[in-house]
Amino acid sequence: MNPTSRSMSVREAVTERRSIKKFNGETVSREAIMEILSDSRFAPNHGKREPWRFVVGAGENLKDIQELIREFALPAWREMSPEALELQSGKFMNPGAILFAIVPMDARQKERLEDYTAIAAFMQNAQLLAWEKGIGTCIKTPAYLDHPKFREALGAKTGERVIAMLQFGHYDALPKEWPHTPIEDKVTFYSAAGSASDTSK
Ligand SMILES: Cc1cc2nc3c(=O)[nH]c(=O)nc-3n(C[C@H](O)[C@H](O)[C@H](O)COP(=O)(O)O)c2cc1C
Repeated sequence: MNPTSRSMSVREAVTERRSIKKFNGETVSREAIMEILSDSRFAPNHGKREPWRFVVGAGENLKDIQELIREFALPAWREMSPEALELQSGKFMNPGAILFAIVPMDARQKERLEDYTAIAAFMQNAQLLAWEKGIGTCIKTPAYLDHPKFREALGAKTGERVIAMLQFGHYDALPKEWPHTPIEDKVTFYSAAGSASDTSK
């Protein structure tokens, strides 16, 4: 599936978006990524700190970032058979663009939580805006994001956290919708008496 931009309501984007885990190898241009990121910067962030920056692999440097990921995702890749390597490297070789989201690790707990929440809002914006363009996304949080050598390769500074990888790309099949829990099961209307848990009223 490689649809072009489609007009959709915010509700449609929110409820119809799926995380795409099987990309088909088609690339996503730098222009498309920059447009998505530019619009995503309107995400709410406390103190207008804009606590985000991104290291991006798209266009001509996509291969470089994929090769970096290979070193950490499959450290023994040189010893693997070409078939096994191809099978196991699809997760990072098939996306059409990849970015790493970096957030300051503020020593103050309040600001740190605000900044983490803000970058989550930014990434959700990016996922929805990409979806509207017919581009699939998936957030990934592999353990090597905190690896000192990976951080160094990416240029993460002391006091910064590489919080997530965000993959973009095209796909041939849409994942099935999974059964989301009815929100009534997650909502309690506050009662001063502390007794009401019936959310139907
Ligand atoms: C913070 C965060 C971290 C995630 N990390 C991973 C990951 O490491 N690997 C992965 O396959 N998916 C990851 N995902 C994607 C979720 O697994 C995905 O959102 C979930 O399967 C629900 O699918 P949906 O987005 O289509 O509703 C992550 C999602 C979030 C929000």
